[in-house]
Amino acid sequence: MTDADLGQALPLPTPSIELQTRLATRRSAPAQALGAPGPSPAEIERILTLGARSPDHGKLFPWRFVVMGPQSRAALAEALLPHAARQPDPGKARKVLTKLTAPPLTILVISAPVDSAKPVWEQELSAGAVCMNLEHAANAFGYSASWITDWYSYDPQALELLGVTSRERVAGFIHIGTLAESPLERPRPDLSTLVVHRP
Ligand SMILES: Cc1cc2nc3c(=O)[nH]c(=O)nc-3n(C[C@H](O)[C@H](O)[C@H](O)COP(=O)(O)O)c2cc1C
Repeated sequence: MTDADLGQALPLPTPSIELQTRLATRRSAPAQALGAPGPSPAEIERILTLGARSPDHGKLFPWRFVVMGPQSRAALAEALLPHAARQPDPGKARKVLTKLTAPPLTILVISAPVDSAKPVWEQELSAGAVCMNLEHAANAFGYSASWITDWYSYDPQALELLGVTSRERVAGFIHIGTLAESPLERPRPDLSTLVVHRP
C-alpha cells in the first residue's frame, strides 16, 4: 500500500463488515498486561503515519510524538519515583509507574497548539483524534493498545522531565504490545440517554 499523493482522488468509503466488527469489538488493553511482541521499526513508522492522518482544523498538525522504547521508559519511571512521593496517594502513584515499563512500545502524544486563528480547544481535540487513530492503527497491525495519562501527565515537575513545555499538554501515552489473554467487555453507554434524533 502506498500513501496518497497530494490532490489524488481517494477511494470513497465502502461497506465493510470486517471494519464494523473490529470497531464493535475493539477494547483497550490494561497497560501492565502488554508484553512482547511489539511493533517492528517499519510497523512503528506505519502506525505513526496512520495516526497522524487525523482530522485537524487548518492543517496545523498541532501535536508531536515521542517514540519511547523500554530504556527511556525505565529511566523515566525511575526519575518519576521521587515525584510519586509528593502525590496525594504515593503508593498508587508509584504503582502506576509499572504501566510505563511493561509495554514493548509507547508513543507519547503531546498536544502542541500553534499560533493560529483556530481555537486551541480544536487543536487539542485533534490530538485526541490522533491518539484514537494510533490505537486503531496498532490494532490493524495485530497489536493491543492502551491510552493512559496518569498523574505524571499533569504534575508540573513530571512534565519538565517529559520535556513538555508550558504551552503543551500530554494528550496520552499510547502503550502498544501484545496481550496474553483476551480482554473482557466493559459497560457501554445506553445510547437512548445520550442521543436525540431530530428530523
Ligand atoms: C484521555 C484519556 C486518558 C486516560 N487515562 C487513563 C489513566 O490515566 N489511567 C487509566 O487507567 N485509564 C485511563 N484511560 C482509560 C483507558 O484508556 C481505558 O482503558 C479505556 O478507556 C477503556 O475503554 P475501551 O476498552 O473502550 O478503549 C484514559 C482514557 C482517555 C481517553
